[in-house]
Amino acid sequence: MADLLIRGGNPLNGDLIIGGRKNSAVAVVPATIMAAGTSTLENLPAIGDVSTYTEILQQLGARVEGPSGGTLRVDASRVRPDGAPMEMVKRIRASYYLLGALLGRFHYARVGLPGGCDIGQRPIDQHLKGFRALGATVSLDHGEVVAEADELIGTHIYLDIASVGATINIMLAAVLAKGTTVLENCAKEPHIVDVASLLNAMGARVVGAGTDTIKIHGVEELKPARHAIIPDEIEAATYAIATAATRGDVTLLNVVPKHLDSVSAKLREAGVIVEENGDWVRVSAPDRPRAITVKTLPYPGFPTDAMPPMMALLALSSGTSVISEGVYESRFKHVDELQRMGTKIRVEGRSAVIEGVEELHGAPVHASNLRAGACLVAAGLAAQGETRVSGVQHVERGYEHLEDKLRSIGARISRYPDGADSRGDDELRVVNLGPA
Ligand code: EPZ
Repeated sequence: MADLLIRGGNPLNGDLIIGGRKNSAVAVVPATIMAAGTSTLENLPAIGDVSTYTEILQQLGARVEGPSGGTLRVDASRVRPDGAPMEMVKRIRASYYLLGALLGRFHYARVGLPGGCDIGQRPIDQHLKGFRALGATVSLDHGEVVAEADELIGTHIYLDIASVGATINIMLAAVLAKGTTVLENCAKEPHIVDVASLLNAMGARVVGAGTDTIKIHGVEELKPARHAIIPDEIEAATYAIATAATRGDVTLLNVVPKHLDSVSAKLREAGVIVEENGDWVRVSAPDRPRAITVKTLPYPGFPTDAMPPMMALLALSSGTSVISEGVYESRFKHVDELQRMGTKIRVEGRSAVIEGVEELHGAPVHASNLRAGACLVAAGLAAQGETRVSGVQHVERGYEHLEDKLRSIGARISRYPDGADSRGDDELRVVNLGPA
């Protein structure tokens, strides 16, 4: 697998179009299998998780066209409720949505336990609690979750944790149930509203998505629909933070500024200039960031997925910052790699104390998961010298056209085949990293 090679120290400057939201895409794609016929999804990001999900739907009997230019057409007329290959299901965390979608439509689902990033236990007990409350029996058979029901009956469900995945998965299982389901203590992430919008376009009756109480009035069947997903505020946050770390000036286009409120607030607190209007946000950072404290929380709190890149910025701040991780029990695997670049960070339980340094220096580092990779790319862009990031396959799961997008705003970034020695060959290095 190729590595990313970054020559840092260049301020990021220019305009950048943000793509569709990864965590919405991996929920609306499985949702299309709930209706016989052809649904059309638009503004999907060109990322690994979408490709993987498209392959899984084909294995379940769906006929798909695309994704091409962000558009995917799914004919789910011939979908079967089992047959999702375990090795594909294990590639992504969001494969668990197949359970809710298949159980909801067929009253039967057999899906392998999900994969995804190594950021803690990540159980799905709340998902299964919801399925059982609707009348399904749920068991584990050789690493596969089997959920089946004679019928699904709407009921009152109170989530122990405001889980994004459980909120969406139970919504999927309940839209075709008999009667009304009231789901309480729901997560409120914007993409939950996105999934509900698609389901309602298909004929479902979901009200309250985006609040902590969602009511789902069961309907007889769903029809195919067309839906364009929302922009990715985590991709936007990542580029905003990388811009600040390089003291650049970038305007992010095709965003919903409201979805970025918590990130914009924290960047402003750190002294970064953030302007917004309509569908754009402009980030500029003439000076070194100030030290701040950050606590990650479910939406609308500061998003845990933007925390790793934020750490790269705060590593350069003029003072001591503290980041507290409020969602996962262990999401600091990127700290060891950052230390190789000259950061001064101390992890204490679910908090990291970050003593800002004047500058980072490039180093060979490894991305162990998606957002850790984003952190290391942001650090490499800000560092003096060359950074080589291995584990790019993790980053490509969630960031479309990463090198192209970064190069379009002035980054000197390229990739090398695994193990290629780029140290000694300046000619090769200059050619591959673009203009000095
Ligand atoms: C979604 O994961 C996202 N993934 C994550 O993004 C994101 O970090 C997370 O929501 C929080 O915003 C997708 O949407 C595919 P949760 P999910 O259920 O649904 C615990 C990224 O980088 N929990 O809200 O798995 C869980 O362990 C990824 O894009 C249970 O205990 O998150 C975690 O500590 C990483 N039991 C907390 O709740 C359950 O049944 C929040 O998890 C479910 C969750």
